[in-house]
Amino acid sequence: MTLGLLAGHSLSAQPPVTMPDAQVPPPGPALDLINKNCSGCHTTATIFSQRKSADDWAATVQLMVDRGAELKPDEQDAVIGYLTKNFSDSPAAATAPAATPAP
Ligand code: HEC
Repeated sequence: MTLGLLAGHSLSAQPPVTMPDAQVPPPGPALDLINKNCSGCHTTATIFSQRKSADDWAATVQLMVDRGAELKPDEQDAVIGYLTKNFSDSPAAATAPAATPAP
């Protein structure tokens, strides 16, 4: 039964839809925040073309908030974590959860 289904699927040869390199950011609440609050002064392409460390993203988002991006502190954290995860300059950090700096 299962074998028959699998065989049928493998014969239908559908092209894979996975992206080789994450050009399209994964959906989520943080992406909604970015689309809403970070696209007023420049397009989100300005953001998604960057690759930064957690510290650099934190500094960048803080700078944008200082400039006028309307993010509450918890939203800021969500955006920093999202950008660090998906647009990191280090492959190791890309799979790790948002780094919390040691006290
Ligand atoms: C009030 C206007 C404004 C808002 C809102 C804004 N930005 Fe910016 N952003 C700018 C300006 C002006 C520049 C270009 C000057 C520069 O490069 O520092 C810029 C440049 C950038 C860059 C490219 C330069 C760099 O430092 O890497 C990134 C990334 C960026 N913004 C991220 C964000 C994010 C993330 C948000 C939402 C939290 C955001 N911006 C919201 C004004 C804004």
